[in-house]
Amino acid sequence: MEKALQLHEVLYVSTLSPDSPVKVVSQIAAKARTANEVAGVTGLLIFDGMRFCQQIEGPRKQVLRLIERIRQDLRHVNVEILHHGPLAERRFRRFGLGYVTVDDVDVLARIEEAGAEQAMAQFLALIPNVDMDS
Ligand SMILES: Cc1cc2nc3c(=O)[nH]c(=O)nc-3n(C[C@H](O)[C@H](O)[C@H](O)COP(=O)(O)O)c2cc1C
Repeated sequence: MEKALQLHEVLYVSTLSPDSPVKVVSQIAAKARTANEVAGVTGLLIFDGMRFCQQIEGPRKQVLRLIERIRQDLRHVNVEILHHGPLAERRFRRFGLGYVTVDDVDVLARIEEAGAEQAMAQFLALIPNVDMDS
């Protein structure tokens, strides 16, 4: 398969910018959902009131282009890529961007500390416990 079309995924954590009100988050999520559907990107954004953890997946070229835009977005800071690489099949097919909030602020902090190997597994382990609003 052409490399640009190969499925690729990225997982990162970041922190809401001190200059951004919390209400920007639902605006980001709503806009991103439509944009991702157009781009053939799917994924899940988790927000705990302060930190983000997001997985995005799709054709390599689209995913790399998107993560570059996200990294430059001033509405969050300390963007730290925990994992990126090829993916055999999509993890999320139902939505362009699932958006969920968690109340426990320790959960994303633990993912951030987990390091590359464990981070994706911990992220996926969260999913049965979160309320999908998609
Ligand atoms: C935490 C976070 C997650 C984001 N996730 C996405 C996303 O999944 N898809 C998307 O198109 N934009 C997402 N954005 C918004 C992008 O950073 C950017 O504003 C958007 O792609 C529009 O880019 P443009 O203004 O260069 O056209 C996210 C922003 C933040 C802060």
